[in-house]
Amino acid sequence: MSRKLQPGRLIAATHNKGKVAELKDLFEPLGFEVVSAVELQLEEAEETELTFEGNALIKARAAAQATGAPALSDDSGLEVTALGGMPGVHTAIWAGEPRDFYVAMEKVERELQAIDATDRSARFVSCLAVAWPDGHEETFRGEIEGTLTWPPRGEMGFGYDPVFVPFGHEVTFAELEPAQKHSMSHRAVAFDKLKKALL
Ligand code: IMP
Repeated sequence: MSRKLQPGRLIAATHNKGKVAELKDLFEPLGFEVVSAVELQLEEAEETELTFEGNALIKARAAAQATGAPALSDDSGLEVTALGGMPGVHTAIWAGEPRDFYVAMEKVERELQAIDATDRSARFVSCLAVAWPDGHEETFRGEIEGTLTWPPRGEMGFGYDPVFVPFGHEVTFAELEPAQKHSMSHRAVAFDKLKKALL
């Protein structure tokens, strides 16, 4: 049985500024005060699971326990069909340390060229998890299909946005106005499910 999430303080259990912006866009119009893990100087939890759901729960759980407030996290990534779903849960790691997403996009492109891939389809996946301090948990999954383009195009968004062209569009996520991306993204799809269940 889903538990209703009462408007109020909600911890965004992420250190990714792009995700915080998108989560604020989604939740603040509904009366939530979204406070990020960065603002609260929470430690970044280690993502040790092999699924988006598992990793999203690790992050939400850690933030709920540390703050005593309900916490929301997103674990997301890019699944490339011709690469058997890689980078998947390793999407952030492909950007190296410190994170450089041009490096990550180039690595995907190199791997596709190495196998002469003609199938350039890919999808972004987002799993949103909500954890309450008493241990109750919920997860919601959203996906958006598209194709990968090269070279990268556009200055907006974050991560792999400059190489991802959503189906039905000719521009990349990084060429779309943020509001337009946020209305169709994998996170928006997951958010719609969350809204129906918890709000
Ligand atoms: P994690 O969820 O922190 O493990 O990181 C997921 C990674 O997937 C991010 O660092 C981004 O590189 C990538 N990603 C997730 N969502 C998006 C998006 O909307 N646009 C571009 N890249 C994304």
